[in-house]
Amino acid sequence: METLSALLYLVASVCFIMALRGLSSPETSRQGNFFGMAGMTIAVLTTLALPIVQSYWMIVLGIAIGGGIGYVIAKKIEMTALPQLVAAFHSLVGLAAVFVALSAFYSPEAYGIGVPGAIAKGSLVEMALGTAIGAITFTGSIVAFAKLQGLVTGKPLVFPFQHHLNAGLGILTILLIVWLVQSNADAPMWLIVAVSLALGLLLILPIGGADMPVVISMLNSYSGWAAAGIGFTLQNNLLIVTGALVGSSGAILSYIMCKGMNRSIFNVILGGFGGDSGASSAAAGGGERGTVKAGSPEDAAYIMKNAQSVIIVPGYGMAVAQAQHALREMADLLKKEGVEVKYAIHPVAGRMPGHMNVLLAEANVPYDEVFELEDINRDFGTADVAFVIGANDVTNPAAKTDPQSPIYGMPILDVEKAKTVFFIKRGMAAGYAGVENELFFRPNTMMLFGDAKKVTEEVVKATE
Ligand code: TAP
Repeated sequence: METLSALLYLVASVCFIMALRGLSSPETSRQGNFFGMAGMTIAVLTTLALPIVQSYWMIVLGIAIGGGIGYVIAKKIEMTALPQLVAAFHSLVGLAAVFVALSAFYSPEAYGIGVPGAIAKGSLVEMALGTAIGAITFTGSIVAFAKLQGLVTGKPLVFPFQHHLNAGLGILTILLIVWLVQSNADAPMWLIVAVSLALGLLLILPIGGADMPVVISMLNSYSGWAAAGIGFTLQNNLLIVTGALVGSSGAILSYIMCKGMNRSIFNVILGGFGGDSGASSAAAGGGERGTVKAGSPEDAAYIMKNAQSVIIVPGYGMAVAQAQHALREMADLLKKEGVEVKYAIHPVAGRMPGHMNVLLAEANVPYDEVFELEDINRDFGTADVAFVIGANDVTNPAAKTDPQSPIYGMPILDVEKAKTVFFIKRGMAAGYAGVENELFFRPNTMMLFGDAKKVTEEVVKATE
C-alpha cells in the first residue's frame, strides 16, 4: 500500500507540475486546469485510502460543509471580486497551518513525533516555521481582504521606523523558535503565534493602491509555504511538494509582478512598499489641465473606420461592464474595413493577474492579436487610435512624471502617443490608485462617457 500511495502521489505531483506549465499560457490553460483537477482527484482519493484514516464521518462532514460553502460562493462571486475571495481563502490556509501545528504540539504522539514535552527537535522546527508562516498569512490575508473589499482604506499605511519594527519582529520570531526547540515549552509556541499574527498585519498594512496585485501573489506564495509546513508536520510528502509548488510559483509570480510594477521584491517581502515612492500622497495628480473633449460613439466609429491601426486597451471597467463580447464585435467590423486591430494588456490591468486575457479569451479574441506591454508599447507611436476601454491607472503618465504619485515607477501603456485616444468611462473618476489622469485633458483625447458595454455597442451600431 505504501509503495502504491507513493506512486500515486508522484503521479499527482507530476499532474500539478503539468497544470502550472499549462496555466502559463492562455492557449494551454484549459489543459492546465484539467491536469490540476486530475492531480487533486488522485491526491484526495489516495489520501482517503491511506491506512491512517480511521474514520470517514468527520472528513465527509468537513467536505460537505466546506464544499457547500465553496459551491455557493463560486456560483455567486463576480469575477471582479476574485482578488478579495482569493485573499480570504489564503487566510484559511494560514489558519489551518497554525491549527495543525498546535494540535501536533499538544498531541505529538498522534503524529508519531514524540510525547508532550519531549518532541523531536526537527519536528519542533517544522511546526514552529509552519505556525509562523501560517499566522503571518492569516492576518496578512485578512488585511488584504479588507483593503480589496473596501472595508478599510486601500491606501498604503506608512509610519516611521516601519522597516525596523518589521525586521525586529522577524528576528524576535527566529529567537522564539530557538527558545521553543531548546525548551519544548508552551510560552515560546504561543509567543510565536502572537508575534507572527502582528507581523502579518504590519507587513501588509503599508502596501496599497496600485501595488495590491503584488500582495495577492505574495500571500499566495506564503500560503504555499504554510501548506508545505503542514506537510512536514503531517509527514505527507504530497502536501510538501504541492505546498512548495504553490510557494515557489507564487514567489515567481510576485517577482514578475514586481518587475511589471517596477518595484523591489525585497521591499515587498519586508512590507516596505510605498515608502520610497511617496505612496502616502495618493491623490497626486499631474500636469497642466486642459479642457475635456467629449465625443459620441458615432465620432469614434467614423474615426476608427478611417484609421489604419487601432490598439485596444482594456481595463477594469471593461470587466465591470462585461463589454468584451461587444468589443470583439467592434474589432471584427473594423477588421472587415481593413483596419489593423491589436489589444494591449498591462500586467496589472483589472483586478487579478491575467484578468483581461481571461475575458478576451472568453469572447474568442484571437490570441495572436493580444500583446503584452513590452511587446506593444512602441506601436502606440505609429497607431492612429488608442481605444481605452475602462482602463485608467495603467495609462496614467503620472507613473513617469510625478515622483509623489503612488504609481510612480510603474511602467504604463503609452496610449498618448497614438494620434487619437478614446477613453470610455462613466465619468471623470480616478482609477484604483486614486490618481487623476491628466490624459483626459489632452488635445488628442476624446472621452466617450457611459457604461463600457453600452458605448461599445453603440460604436458597433455606428460602424455597421
Ligand atoms: P482602474 O485604474 O481601476 O480604472 C478603471 C476605470 O474604469 C475607472 O476609472 C472607472 O471610471 C472605469 N469604470 C468602472 N466601471 C465602468 C463601467 N461600467 N463602464 C466604463 N468604465 C468603467 O483600472 P486599470 O487601468 O485596469 O488598472 C488596474 C488598477 O487596479 C491598477 O491600479 C492595479 O494596480 C489595481 N489592481 C490590480 C489587480 C490585478 S492583479 N490586476 C488587483 C488589485 C488592484 P468611472 O468610474 O469614471 O467609470
